[in-house]
Amino acid sequence: MAAFLPTMRVAAILLAAGQGRRFSAQTASPVAKQYLTLGGRPVIRHAADALIPHVQILQPVGERASLDGALSGLRTAGDATADGCTILDCVPGGETRQESVRAGLEALDRLPETQKPDLVLIHDGARPYVPAEVTRAVIDALSAHAGAIPGVPVADTIKRVRDGVITDTVPRTDLYRAQTPQGFRFGLLRDLHRGAAASDATDDAALLETAGHHVAMVAGSEDNIKLTYKEDLVRLERLIGPTLLPRT
Ligand code: CTP
Ligand code: MG
Repeated sequence: MAAFLPTMRVAAILLAAGQGRRFSAQTASPVAKQYLTLGGRPVIRHAADALIPHVQILQPVGERASLDGALSGLRTAGDATADGCTILDCVPGGETRQESVRAGLEALDRLPETQKPDLVLIHDGARPYVPAEVTRAVIDALSAHAGAIPGVPVADTIKRVRDGVITDTVPRTDLYRAQTPQGFRFGLLRDLHRGAAASDATDDAALLETAGHHVAMVAGSEDNIKLTYKEDLVRLERLIGPTLLPRT
């Protein structure tokens, strides 16, 4: 671990304000995907469990009643977990993922100066199975870079298609699929989110890229699956345990 890291305060924003429309359309699930029970615990709780050993502050973003229920039991003394991570009151998200990230960043910025984080991780609450070495690699890379995200190389050949006809084959050697947690210098990401370019960015890394900052790509994991479609649930069940989703 880089020498500077022990002095850095790391916060994680846990995103759970999405509707899970693609998943619900396929499964008719009455609960949003991040609240499905998998291996006896909600998906979002698995995500929180994976992050907590690496961070000092956890900021959940989403609907209070659902989040408080799903994360109940994490706090052992006041707001702190057994690992000494402070779990902040959840804040409501926005219409888009980027608006939800912004809500989390502004909540962290309201902390007293001495408690504000130096580094922030942004994590999809729908990604329950994050290997510890992935989170570690992201945080470690922030000693040398303003941002760092995990990813896995694209294995399939990628074709560009117009009107049903292939126009070209995209060289895949330098293509990666981005995952979370994505890590950033806190003040930098907050300021970029407040800027005009924020609404156009597809993710937080793109905000830094556009502003000319270096974002490192570190090794992600094929198991770090985002629950998006029914097929993802089948793969996650193999890794974590059975779901309570009523079978259709
Ligand atoms: N998210 C959020 N606020 C939003 C949209 C998404 O906090 N307005 C969160 C989701 O809860 C999820 C993560 O961002 O944990 C990744 O987004 P995605 O997988 O797209 O989830 P949903 O937007 O809920 O799903 P869909 O796009 O199928 O509706
Ligand atoms: Mg979405």
